[in-house]
Amino acid sequence: MAAEGMIGIVLAGGLGSRMSPLTKVTNKHLLPVYDKPMIYYPIQTLVRAGVRDILLVTGGNSAGDFLKLLGNGKAFGLEHLDYVYQEGEGGIAAALSLARYYAEGRQMAVVLGDNIIEDDIGPYVEAFQRQGRGAKILLKEVEDPHRFGVAELEGDRVVSIEEKPKEPKSSYAVTGVYLYDDHVFSIVDRLVPSGRGELEITDVNNDYIQRGEMTFDFLEGWWTDAGTFESLLRATLLVARREGAPLERMHHLLASQ
Ligand code: G1P
Repeated sequence: MAAEGMIGIVLAGGLGSRMSPLTKVTNKHLLPVYDKPMIYYPIQTLVRAGVRDILLVTGGNSAGDFLKLLGNGKAFGLEHLDYVYQEGEGGIAAALSLARYYAEGRQMAVVLGDNIIEDDIGPYVEAFQRQGRGAKILLKEVEDPHRFGVAELEGDRVVSIEEKPKEPKSSYAVTGVYLYDDHVFSIVDRLVPSGRGELEITDVNNDYIQRGEMTFDFLEGWWTDAGTFESLLRATLLVARREGAPLERMHHLLASQ
């Protein structure tokens, strides 16, 4: 079976301060993206790729509501769903380090809780399983790379990643899907907080690059984050179109107002 032995980790902590006041009383990942709470999509992404063991790292507002919403993952056809609680806002890499107890000795597929992906990531996960060790990231060409981690490529190698650069070296965003071996935990142990006081996932990825253990693929299909007002709207529209919502009627309605 696809993704045998792998653990899927969804990172859904943080205070979502960029989206206040929407996130003042609830968690960003519980906000709606068309007809489902945002957190459904990254879980579906992992399930579709054949991952059966999924761990949700959450924290911030309404952390308990995830349990109420997702339970044991039955709605996704899962037999169990595990949870870890993140205190405070330490950044993506800090959230990942909380998965250590569950993920030690295993390969992992990490998905950010606000990333919505059209296609099945199963083929990339399988490629990573064949790779065996190190890490793999998925890149997507975007119009606004300064909002993301941006990969600098040389031929078929990724040579560095810059987090939210003012002058991006390429238009390839690093999507929020990270495939890691369990060496990731000792990398996180050595990280120092960035200027914004967080342990950055980009620093983890650069460590793998420097060790010559990072591969990448270009992600097919559409991809968006949903962590800003604009990208949440875009995510909603993309999902609505996929689900066959009557978008022309809405467009007509807007044009006629
Ligand atoms: C995070 C990562 C960034 C990545 C992005 C993908 O950014 O730091 O490298 O490109 O997710 O969604 P954030 O959403 O925390 O701004």
